[in-house]
Amino acid sequence: MNRTQGFANRLTQYSDNAFSLYLRRSFARSMGFSDTALDKPIIGIVNTYSELNNCHRGFRELAEAIKRGVWQAGGLPLEFPTISLGEVFLSPTSMMMRNLMSMDAEVMIKAQPLDAVVLMGGCDKTLPALLMGAASAGIPAIAIAAGPMLTGSYQGERLGACTDCRRYWGAYRRGEIDDATIHDVENNLAVTSGTCAVMGTASTMACLIEALGMMLPGGASIPAVHAERLRHGEETGRQAVALVGSDLTPDKIMTPGAFANALRVLQAIGGSTNGIIHLTAIAGRLGIRLDLDQLDAVSEDTPVLVNLKPSGSAYMEDFYRAGGMPVVLQELKPLLDLNAVTITGQTLGQILDVPYSFPQWQDVIRPLNQPYKATGAQVVLRGNLAPDGAVIKRSAASPALLQKTGRAVVFTSLADLAARIDSPDLDVTPDDILVLQNAGPIGGPGMPEAGSFPIPARLSGVKDMVRISDARMSGTAFGTIILHVSPEAAVGGPLGLVRDGDLIEVDVAGRRLSLLVDDDVLAARRAEAAQQQPASPARGYEWLYQQHIQGAHLGCDFDFLRHQDLIDHEGKGQ
Ligand code: FES
Repeated sequence: MNRTQGFANRLTQYSDNAFSLYLRRSFARSMGFSDTALDKPIIGIVNTYSELNNCHRGFRELAEAIKRGVWQAGGLPLEFPTISLGEVFLSPTSMMMRNLMSMDAEVMIKAQPLDAVVLMGGCDKTLPALLMGAASAGIPAIAIAAGPMLTGSYQGERLGACTDCRRYWGAYRRGEIDDATIHDVENNLAVTSGTCAVMGTASTMACLIEALGMMLPGGASIPAVHAERLRHGEETGRQAVALVGSDLTPDKIMTPGAFANALRVLQAIGGSTNGIIHLTAIAGRLGIRLDLDQLDAVSEDTPVLVNLKPSGSAYMEDFYRAGGMPVVLQELKPLLDLNAVTITGQTLGQILDVPYSFPQWQDVIRPLNQPYKATGAQVVLRGNLAPDGAVIKRSAASPALLQKTGRAVVFTSLADLAARIDSPDLDVTPDDILVLQNAGPIGGPGMPEAGSFPIPARLSGVKDMVRISDARMSGTAFGTIILHVSPEAAVGGPLGLVRDGDLIEVDVAGRRLSLLVDDDVLAARRAEAAQQQPASPARGYEWLYQQHIQGAHLGCDFDFLRHQDLIDHEGKGQ
């Protein structure tokens, strides 16, 4: 046995390494392992199963499939837990805990005697957190996704979490459906284990991680409950063993070229706006600076090829049947960096160099020369209202609202929004622009997915309005929604200076977001705002979070977790 592998890795310190190994093997024997097992390389399996994470309900069975693959290839699979983030079970928002989960993953991967690690994630923040942690831990790692849910149905109509959740809730708020109907819909929205059934954040991240090369080909879209998901688990286990002793650490795979590929894919799949935040954070762990201008640049020459909700009409199970990411990558081939190395040890170019013909029989993925939309899903706006940028998913917006000047109706916080949005006294018309302040990384706190906040109840029948905030929005949401405004209001960003009645100009074609208020008026408001500092939590994780969280344009990582090169150059970088 190579003594650099297995239980001899990273010994507990007793100032006598031989004793440490003897003690460790003795205790491992208490788990029933024989010499044959103890001498194999150890493959850690990070299992984020939790009974408070419905999306990961199938992880016990999937972990067993991964273990089978590890055994088949000659490794010893050892499963361990980390924090699990079930999107809808966390308060104030799962984004607040993503970095905490990444720290857990990094520390436990680094502390234990692992030769390689399998990262089991799925629900929105879990795969980003695991990738961030693995990137910093620096041992070979391979990701596997939970896979999407299957759709349900209601009165003959397919339903999938969570674009349809929002559509039905909007109808319920407008009084178009009754209590009994919304209850029946609730029963049929999320009908299997797995992640949301549309191109939400979870599916987006799975596709981006496949594009990055950190997941085996085809793994992003296999439904959670499909037998192929278990076969993919076995294959992932076998590949984890193949990584042992190789130099295929995450930094060799997640290179600038791989991130450029992921940005292309983000646009082509009509992916979640959260994707750019998570990609920026993962890249930041490796010393790679992604910025919003890169996203905007690829938007112009990367068409939308995938027709999934919320930008289109199909669901993830349809995407799987149509061929999934392997077809998307084949079509995007002329736009990709084919030299990027993947977890298989092959380059992306080698993987794509197989007999291929476009699957004409389906209408979920389009060929590059006949896209659904000629330009990418997301663009970046800048201007005096967002000096460090803001993001809009134009593929899920109302075209008529992409050029607009309107009167601001301002909500100063999430609590203010909740208190007044449905007030019959709210001074609002369909032509106004709704502004939500103090919902960013610090203001929220945690940058909740509140950016797609509802249309005021008194505007019954209006289905979309321009909404601007420093919040995020769910990848399953839709509408003309401008997000991630940076700097955020709570740290003095101009968004906090908007007042009711101000004129705002939105010019998506020109990439501008402007507050049409004189500079001297804004200066006076800024001086007044400087008197009111946000309260600082006294202790605990909330204190750590507020002290160290970075702005949305930097990926919302903690400053001290980014790669040293970026720490040296950026400091806190709010
Ligand atoms: Fe887990 Fe949507 S709630 S992926």
